[in-house]
Amino acid sequence: MTARIIDGKALAVQVKQEVRREVEKLSAAGITPGLAVVLVGDDPASRIYVRNKQKNCEELGIISEVYHLPATTGEEELKALVGRLNKDPKINGILVQLPLPAPLREEEVTLLINPEKDVDGFHPMNLGRLLRGEEGIRPCTPAGIMALIKASGVEVTGRECVVVGRSNIVGKPVAQLLLQEHGTVTICHSRTKDLAAITSRAEILVVAVGKAGLIDGTMIKPGAVVIDVGMNRLPTGKVVGDVDFSSAVEVAGAITPVPGGVGPMTIAMLMKNTVMAALAQNGAKFGKD
Ligand code: GUN
Repeated sequence: MTARIIDGKALAVQVKQEVRREVEKLSAAGITPGLAVVLVGDDPASRIYVRNKQKNCEELGIISEVYHLPATTGEEELKALVGRLNKDPKINGILVQLPLPAPLREEEVTLLINPEKDVDGFHPMNLGRLLRGEEGIRPCTPAGIMALIKASGVEVTGRECVVVGRSNIVGKPVAQLLLQEHGTVTICHSRTKDLAAITSRAEILVVAVGKAGLIDGTMIKPGAVVIDVGMNRLPTGKVVGDVDFSSAVEVAGAITPVPGGVGPMTIAMLMKNTVMAALAQNGAKFGKD
């Protein structure tokens, strides 16, 4: 039996349709949601991500302002821009594209974003709310992963969940979200002794490391739900995940492809976070009339 493919592209289209309905409601009330994207330097991958965010905003009727600053920008200048965007009533969401070029400090810059406009969910206030199980803006990729797991039809409650990778952007927050949904969660990382022994126990396996072929079919429990967050460009130009798809698809019960799995969901969740922020800043809630 080969695994069911969890179609992130199709699910992202559904999420964006919901977002569009909310944008229309806001626009009937005279409000247009606005997202500011700050890009420092010329990292080619970041430029592609930022362009994609802009394109999605345009499609959904969200105003997008892109601030493209040179790699030599000083921290004070960047902080001043964030301060202006915090005060700008047209802007409901602020995103500073990561990674920032050295010596800019991501933690320092993230800290200055108004938590109500922090559509990345990276501010310590929003991460703290996540840890405490309170309402708040959730990081986009982890939120997208949870939606993909839900779409796979598997209930998280009581399941063995294994997250490979402990980044602040994906591994740590997705582990918290799984815990909040009552999963039994293990986090693996570069110092984990026997990775295969732990991943083979997983009924839900999330891999977010950035290493092509890290997980293959021999490391997967038959029937598991496998979410591959990796995006690795091979020397041939082909983009692959962290999971060796051809062997994994023979063992897993459901699996996300790369591309077309987590990637499209991240951007859909960013659009959703932006509109949720606009609603919250106007005293309303997503999905409510
Ligand atoms: N770089 C890679 N992923 C992300 C993300 O989700 N948000 C931001 N701001 N930068 C990123």
